[in-house]
Amino acid sequence: MQNIKVYADRKKGTINKNIYGHFSEHLGRCIYGGIWVGKDSDIPNTNGIRNDVIEALREMKIPVLRWPGGCFADEYHWMDGIGPYESRPTMINTHWGGVTENNHFGTHEFFELCELIGAEPYINGNLGSGTVYEMQQWVEYMTFDGVSPMADLRKKNGREQPWKLKYFGIGNENWGCGGNMTPEYYADEYKRYATYVRNYGGNRIYKIACGPAGDDTNWTEVLMKKASKFFDGLSLHHYTITHDWTNKGSATNFDEAEWFMTLKRTLEMDAIITAHERVMDKYDPEKKIALIVDEWGNWFDVEPGTNPGFLFQQNTLRDALVAGINLNIFNNHCSRVQMANIAQMVNVLQAVILTEGSRMIKTPTYHVFKMYAVHQDAQLLETDVENYLYSNGSESIPKLSVSSSMDAEGKIHVTICNLDPDNAADINLQLEGAKAGKVSGKIITADKINAMNTFEAPEAVTEKIFEDAAVEDGAVKAVIPAKSVVLLEIA
Ligand code: AHR
Repeated sequence: MQNIKVYADRKKGTINKNIYGHFSEHLGRCIYGGIWVGKDSDIPNTNGIRNDVIEALREMKIPVLRWPGGCFADEYHWMDGIGPYESRPTMINTHWGGVTENNHFGTHEFFELCELIGAEPYINGNLGSGTVYEMQQWVEYMTFDGVSPMADLRKKNGREQPWKLKYFGIGNENWGCGGNMTPEYYADEYKRYATYVRNYGGNRIYKIACGPAGDDTNWTEVLMKKASKFFDGLSLHHYTITHDWTNKGSATNFDEAEWFMTLKRTLEMDAIITAHERVMDKYDPEKKIALIVDEWGNWFDVEPGTNPGFLFQQNTLRDALVAGINLNIFNNHCSRVQMANIAQMVNVLQAVILTEGSRMIKTPTYHVFKMYAVHQDAQLLETDVENYLYSNGSESIPKLSVSSSMDAEGKIHVTICNLDPDNAADINLQLEGAKAGKVSGKIITADKINAMNTFEAPEAVTEKIFEDAAVEDGAVKAVIPAKSVVLLEIA
């Protein structure tokens, strides 16, 4: 029996709903085909945006969406994506497959998508290959309410009122695809660009600087030291790579050793965030500056026979575990982590939605996001887990990953991932500072570690009612099945 203690009377801060954010890049079939099919398509759409995708995303309660990249952001020239479609220039998407981009999905279309799915927009500007002037004009175009060249152009293109735009990223991975800069050079460039990202009228921009890759704390140190006066958030990119970049492994065809390795690598997110928090705490003890994990998730080899530049991978029960573990980690770091954006929303990397022509399926990762939505804007509760180990060969990792929160109605939600693919976990969950009245639950699991949803069998891995939990003497006793993600709701 594993003991878990949840302290109902020890609130550790608000879990910002934006931790449940997403990322959509002009990459492969994420935007084109996955989200945007154009107004003349036979696929049911609203002004070119797929209706099935809109409905699924609304249901999942997506709070914030990052666009247009990624590496694409630092090659994107926003003026190519406005005005009549026939006059929008085409470009080569050099980063992602060398395909032709017709720019039919641009600023207006992105804001419409956000409105339709109920998400807050997060736009990433081009510092790597764009000019300060271009970035300044984009912000003016989107947010200025009055007479100005850019506001007039926006009106001419059919949008009278400015949009409300809060989140704006100034460059992406500028240590790599965004210009191969040193942190010192980027910090100076950041300040120059950020100066001209203006607040017009009542619009207040929350500026996000490009942060480190993985455990590169030197990047964080330099940025915090040289430029933190000028940003609200610092991004962090960290993907789960099972082996290494030259052999990332298959998304679907794997054995227990690979399952173990993927989960072990996922757990490293906790230490990586902690390392950056330490540096940030030194310069910002009041935690005014957020860590924004705006790219995370599993990155496997592409599906056989697909364009290597499109990063298309299937999604299995293992991805559900990886999503559940990462989201528990972000919840538990909510005093510093204010936003996270899984890569990517549709048809790319650890996607929540896959499409094929007119068909669409929800992946196991989708169901985790939907299940965990109860944590959005809830109060994180201190939680102690008496953890057992799950071993494979000579290595071991903790068996359970857990986070708990209390919502506005006083209901307690505990999300538990059992990483062990063979053995259930008997838990004795005690509440401190409250008494459990009743418990209900939901579960995502399957018979096989690589179970997945396909267009032929779209419901193989979905959320089900969990019945193996009961209240006894004010505590919750539950049996958490092997390889599962469980939500307990305690009232
Ligand atoms: O998500 C795919 C790519 O990964 C992004 O474009 C880039 O920022 C990162 O390297």
